[in-house]
Amino acid sequence: MVSSSLLPLALLVSLSANVLAAPHPSPPSSLSMDLKRRSSPRARSQDDIAAWAAAHRSNVQAKYGNTSSKQKRSSGQNLIVNQKSDSSFFGSIAVGTPPVAYDVILDTGSSDLWLAGKTCLSDACSGIATFNPSSSSSFQNKSEPFQITYGSGEASGTLGQDLVQMAGFSVSNQVFAVCDVVSDNLLNNPVSGLLGLAFQTIASSGASPLWETLASSNSWDQPLMAFQLTRFNNDSNAGDLQAGGTFTMGATNSSLFTGDIDYNDIPAGEESYWLQTISSITSQGSAISIASGSSALAAIDTGTTLIGGPEEEVAAIYANIPNSKAGTGQLEGYYQYPCSTTVNVTMAFGGKSWAISNADFQAEQLSKDTCLGAFFSLSTGSNAPAWIVGDTFLKNVYSVFRYNPASVGFAELSAAALAQNGNTDLAIPSATIGSAAATVSATGGATRESHNSAPSTAASSLSSLALSALVIASTMLVSTLQSI
Ligand SMILES: *[C@@H]1O[C@H](CO)[C@@H](O)[C@H](O)[C@H]1NC(C)=O
Ligand SMILES: *[C@@H]1O[C@H](CO)[C@@H](O)[C@H](O)[C@H]1NC(C)=O
Ligand SMILES: *[C@@H]1O[C@H](CO)[C@@H](O)[C@H](O)[C@H]1NC(C)=O
Ligand SMILES: *[C@@H]1O[C@H](CO)[C@@H](O)[C@H](O)[C@H]1NC(C)=O
Ligand SMILES: *[C@@H]1O[C@H](CO)[C@@H](O)[C@H](O)[C@H]1NC(C)=O
Repeated sequence: MVSSSLLPLALLVSLSANVLAAPHPSPPSSLSMDLKRRSSPRARSQDDIAAWAAAHRSNVQAKYGNTSSKQKRSSGQNLIVNQKSDSSFFGSIAVGTPPVAYDVILDTGSSDLWLAGKTCLSDACSGIATFNPSSSSSFQNKSEPFQITYGSGEASGTLGQDLVQMAGFSVSNQVFAVCDVVSDNLLNNPVSGLLGLAFQTIASSGASPLWETLASSNSWDQPLMAFQLTRFNNDSNAGDLQAGGTFTMGATNSSLFTGDIDYNDIPAGEESYWLQTISSITSQGSAISIASGSSALAAIDTGTTLIGGPEEEVAAIYANIPNSKAGTGQLEGYYQYPCSTTVNVTMAFGGKSWAISNADFQAEQLSKDTCLGAFFSLSTGSNAPAWIVGDTFLKNVYSVFRYNPASVGFAELSAAALAQNGNTDLAIPSATIGSAAATVSATGGATRESHNSAPSTAASSLSSLALSALVIASTMLVSTLQSI
């Protein structure tokens, strides 16, 4: 079973904007709304950090420890929100008729879509926008139970299908779960659910993921999707929500990267997670010895904050950092090191080598002089990849997830992309419900539709959107240690 992991550091939550980007290529008749944000200074006690770190490791462990899973062409972009200083990255989808926008974690490490439902009474569901099946004329209940178990809890409910839109694309009968039980730590306001962006082979629901339906039906100009993720980790002025970068479906955006995209194939026949084989890691200029075969497999995972790997290799990375030491208690599996040390770790997956910035390696400051490193040790199940390469790495590259040939590509970020890092003046993306560029049936082929939605749809979208915004705006601050 697949579980998903977001690893948000959880402190105070504030309200945010939904984000649904304008469809491409034609400008949308979209509606948008600005929501104010509250920001809180980034102050975490050592205990908070330790507790979060322990939860992060155990949750990644749980996510990857069990993998007995059976569990007209265009492109468009969705603007991302960076939540809690790079802890998680969310975008938005619109669901139903009329469409209502929801914030969802964008997770290349799992393959199911789920939303908290209207009837969810769990604390985790209070104050967030929840899905109300009876408000959508196109919703169909499949009456099949759904459950995902996470390291820190579970989400369960029923499978249904409805029109789901993202980045200007629509899938008319996307299967997703409407969850009525959600464990305390699974959702971090204003996020209502999770969008899995890995392959159908590991979907707990068994359903084709939104992205895979679009890619396999040739709806995209190119059969790939791409991320540019921002960094606010090393910025003490960062608010709980900041501009998070760009998610593009069906194309790469050449203004966000420079040079070639270095693609490396997913091992043949292993389309499940977005797997890559690690060919080299260096730490402070020295190569680390990497086990071969399945021990070198890594899942490239936007839904994981840090980087987990085998104990021996992770120890070797820190062995090159003077005065680093293994953590104990809740920090077991993590390492501490002097904050004054500038750390240079690089990773390669068969081709070019990519550097992780010192700002990303330095995951947390534990005390005046002591910092927590972003690599932690992890032992995954025998069917799961040994390494989980999360946002610590992905913030340093433009990343491309290609359906065919199945591969992952990385490129250097452009100056325009880099300029978004730490830029607290950038607007947090606001909610828009764009119109569809093309409608695809999850079970059939692609059909073409006009680019703009009918005015009547737009009008009803407004009231739905206003409603979900109100729900978000009335949310009280929630203090919780979150991890999925
Ligand atoms: C993982 O598998 C073990 C044993 O097979 C089980 O006890 C545990 O509950 C599973 N964890 C998850 C998250 O499914
Ligand atoms: C779907 O139908 C089942 C009964 O078959 C019901 O328990 C469930 O609440 C329904 N789900 C939704 C989202 O309407
Ligand atoms: C954060 O790190 C980046 C990259 O290393 C650096 O350019 C920037 O100045 C740092 N920002 C702060 C506020 O320290
Ligand atoms: C490419 O990204 C830039 C910067 O985020 C954005 O302004 C532009 O609209 C994007 N282009 C396309 C075609 O999506
Ligand atoms: C980081 O290490 C790599 C590999 O040794 C080296 O090529 C690169 O120049 C180093 N970068 C910095 C900023 O020191």
